[in-house]
Amino acid sequence: MLSVVPPPVTAGAPAKVNLHLAVGDLRADGFHELRTVYQALSLSDRVRVQAAPALTVTVRGEGAAQVPTDRNNLVWKAATRLAHKAGMTPSVEIAIEKAVPVAGGLAGGSADAAATLVALDAFWRLDSSRADLVAIAAELGSDVPFALHGGTAYGTGRGENLLPVLARDTFHWVLALARDGLSTPRVFDELDRLRAHAAPPRCGDAEELLQALAAGDPARLAPLLGNDLQAAAVSLQPELRRTLRAGVDAGALAGVVSGSGPTCAFLCADHDSAIEVSAELSGAGVCRGVRLATSPAPGARVVADAG
Ligand code: C5P
Repeated sequence: MLSVVPPPVTAGAPAKVNLHLAVGDLRADGFHELRTVYQALSLSDRVRVQAAPALTVTVRGEGAAQVPTDRNNLVWKAATRLAHKAGMTPSVEIAIEKAVPVAGGLAGGSADAAATLVALDAFWRLDSSRADLVAIAAELGSDVPFALHGGTAYGTGRGENLLPVLARDTFHWVLALARDGLSTPRVFDELDRLRAHAAPPRCGDAEELLQALAAGDPARLAPLLGNDLQAAAVSLQPELRRTLRAGVDAGALAGVVSGSGPTCAFLCADHDSAIEVSAELSGAGVCRGVRLATSPAPGARVVADAG
């Protein structure tokens, strides 16, 4: 019988910044209870899937050398779990094109996993329900459901339970990339250690921040940005203090460590200000590089294949 090989499918998925990240108690399962406001950034990775004799993963682009290409890659797990659920054999090549820094607190690995779910769902013509994809996403990692969702969302639990949040207009960011990454579990452990000895600052509730988002007002949003993990990330990489100061000195409205870091995200008044801040920051010698981004951005979705 003649079998038709389906054409390759490419999907993109966004990086995220946590505008508000309140870390609660350590749970019995090793995760911390979170209350967070996620916003998706225009910085995104792409994943292309195509037929292959067996499951293989290739990576190119930003930080590619640090990304595993075996079963330790989240996209491998995404493919095997979706295949298992659908009764398929995951005979595909998954080619990841990275723009999101690795181990940067921007959920790049989660974006790749979400893009893989969406790409394979289309490639295998599964037409899975949103709820089915979200359930697999939540098994893969705390941030993967948000990478599917995109936009702006309030996350609870491990961060995987999402409610959409109203956000007006576009926000402009400069991302300062650090020279070395930070491991997420290590940053959470460091926060537990700091809390055992002292009282690092804690975010309050997100009420005012949600209002600033609904109003689309960056000047109102800026002083409300907060991240409980920032103290831990700065404790592990003290040079981040200088980076955070340099961004504000360069004219940003505010700076915050993104998620578990070490990327610092600077909120700017508008596009022109973001260009100026990025130029000054890249000349200040406080980071490996800078990226401009806007938010919110859409969640994981199939995109036209550039070949
Ligand atoms: O869910 P994910 O695999 O991204 O989490 C990586 C690690 O980050 C977890 O193993 C845990 O150490 C830490 N974490 C946490 N609480 C969360 C999310 C992540 O302690 N809510």
